[in-house]
Parts: sequence; C-alpha cells; structure tokens
Amino acid sequence: MKIDLTINGAAHSFEVHPGTLLMELLRKEGVFSVKHGCETGECGTCTVLIDGRSINSCIYLAAQAHGKSIVTVEGLGTPEKMHPIQAAFVETGAVQCGYCTPAMVLASHELLSQNLEPTEADVRDALSGQLCRCTGYVKPVEAVMLAARRMKEGGHREEGLSSHREADDSPGRRQASLR
Ligand code: FES
Ligand code: FES
Repeated sequence: MKIDLTINGAAHSFEVHPGTLLMELLRKEGVFSVKHGCETGECGTCTVLIDGRSINSCIYLAAQAHGKSIVTVEGLGTPEKMHPIQAAFVETGAVQCGYCTPAMVLASHELLSQNLEPTEADVRDALSGQLCRCTGYVKPVEAVMLAARRMKEGGHREEGLSSHREADDSPGRRQASLR
C-alpha cells in the first residue's frame, strides 16, 4: 500500500506492507535516533512525535502515519544549532550513554509545547514513559526545567513543526499508566 507522510518537514511517499511498523520504516530511511528497545511499547526509546504528540513507533503501523507529520530529534536541531531542550540536556550532563536521549528530548518537547512553566512533577510525569538505565532521571529533569525557563524567557517559538495537538488514542500512544 502507498502512504504519504512528512518526516522532519520533508514530504515522502512509501510503498509499505500493511504490517510494517513505523519504527522499521524510519530506521530503513536512515532515521537512527529512533532506537530499537523492547519493541513492546514499554521502554519509550522508539518515541517519535506525530502531529506533536509522542508515540511509541514500535507499536504503531507505518500505515497509521499516512497523512501525518512525524518529527524525530533530527528535526529539532543540529549539533551546530541545537534546540534549547537539546542544549539543556548537554549542559546539565543529562546525557550518559545517550540511548534514551532522543526519546527524552521528544517527550520533553511535547510537554514544553504545551506548558513552559512545568513543575518538577509535570516533568517527571512527561518523562515517565522513557526508561533510562544511566541517569536516575535527576539530570534529565534538571535539563527540562532549564529548557523551560530559557524558552519562556526567550519567547521560543517552534519553526516548521506541526502545531496539531488533538487527542490521539492510537495504539502507539503511551499508556496513561506509564505517564
Ligand atoms: S522499543 Fe520500547 S517502546 Fe518501542
Ligand atoms: S542515558 Fe543511558 S539509558 Fe538513558
């Protein structure tokens, strides 16, 4: 079947098997920030933003993404021009092995797109679907709080990212119990 979607602002058309997972499609296209982890929707390391909402791409069919806008961490910033969330993760030392970091950054992005004055509890809630074996979550929480302050003070506006925020009950959406 043919699907059309946008990846980090670029339009794509793909011929896919109905059972192809979005994670498989993205990695086949070279989007390697989307990591293989549990592949059962538990660890969050395969997180991407679809129309601004974080989903686990290991349990989300590529066909479900037809007509949608997908953003991965490659679409947020570059090493030369990092997104404030990425910069805050680096500055606070929130990156250790880095395996969970793209997903952490995207989950943080979803939160800060809606709330630039999060409490620590809000941040912990937003990151609770992202399992990290290294940091103990202290530094990532610090990083998101720092990014929120800077984005608020700097009047940060997203460019080129989808602004859709409608409810999404699709299977890849993190379970309420994981948040
Ligand atoms: S790989 Fe663990 S949630 Fe997708
Ligand atoms: S930094 Fe290693 S798993 Fe999170």
